[in-house]
Amino acid sequence: MGFEHTSVMPQEVHEHQNLKPGNIIVDCTLGGAGHALAAIKAILPGGTLIGIDQDLDAIKHAKKILHPFEKNAVLFHSNFSELPKILNSNGIKGVNSILLDLGFSLNQLKNGKRGFSFNKNEPLDMRMDIRNDLTAFEIINSFPESELVNIFFKFGEEKFSRRIAKRIVETRRHAPIHTSLELAQMITETIPAKNRFKSRIHPATRIFQALRIAVNRELERLEKFMKTVPSLLLKGGRLCVISFHSLEDRIVKQALRKFENGCTCPRELPICSCGFVPQMESVFRKPLVPTKEETALNPMARSAKLRVAQRV
Ligand SMILES: C[S@@+](CC[C@H](N)C(=O)[O-])C[C@H]1O[C@@H](n2cnc3c(N)ncnc32)[C@H](O)[C@@H]1O
Repeated sequence: MGFEHTSVMPQEVHEHQNLKPGNIIVDCTLGGAGHALAAIKAILPGGTLIGIDQDLDAIKHAKKILHPFEKNAVLFHSNFSELPKILNSNGIKGVNSILLDLGFSLNQLKNGKRGFSFNKNEPLDMRMDIRNDLTAFEIINSFPESELVNIFFKFGEEKFSRRIAKRIVETRRHAPIHTSLELAQMITETIPAKNRFKSRIHPATRIFQALRIAVNRELERLEKFMKTVPSLLLKGGRLCVISFHSLEDRIVKQALRKFENGCTCPRELPICSCGFVPQMESVFRKPLVPTKEETALNPMARSAKLRVAQRV
């Protein structure tokens, strides 16, 4: 099957990246390379796109898509939390734009064969970077019950976490749980019938999200990355982040708040004496969300939120 891509909020991202010919820019999550393709055209002549993805399939695909612009693109199979090292080892002191379009791609969901989809009978893997050791199979079949509950609560905000973890542990005593479909069916049966189809989403959605986050250490890496943002951007440079759930959005919002207003002086002091200097400024307070037209065409965009901040 071919590689599919549907970039989320393409116009909004492009507008707020504020790209100019000659810019050095980073796409931290190449995926189907839709955003990257639009961006690279806007930095010609002379610009450089640094593209990153932790999934080798995405890198291979992006190479093909960006082939006509190969002189202006450098791609890295890596985690974006490694961006400071990548820039450093290439002698780049700062960039004009950084984009993060978080989560997983349509291709990983549909063609990844790594158990991201609860509608497919695939091995429970969920690694975006197959060089890593931890898989969803290992979590499901060997983690203690209490740790499963923790992962499901923390990363999936699933209110039936205890019940589901208990059922998994009972089942795996007889035989390991091998596939995404087996797990999805077990979750569906474990959720009380009256709650099962209460919302529009599949009953296994939250547990699958939790597993994916745990396997790929998504929140940990996003937090690590966010701490480095001001040191990577040139003055006036822009950070655009599209997140898909509240856990991600909270990390981005809180990190930006610290860079924007991290003054630690007591409230009663009339002027700041802690020496805080703002490093980032949000371009708008409330995150942008996709239009109704976009979510009708691309339901995966439903929960997207775009935050944009500028280096001051
Ligand atoms: C939503 S897709 C990006 C889609 C892309 N913007 C487009 O226009 O097609 C997310 C991509 O980010 C990658 N990814 C997620 N977290 C990552 C991380 N911490 N480091 C590197 N790549 C990451 C995933 O492998 C996936 O390919």
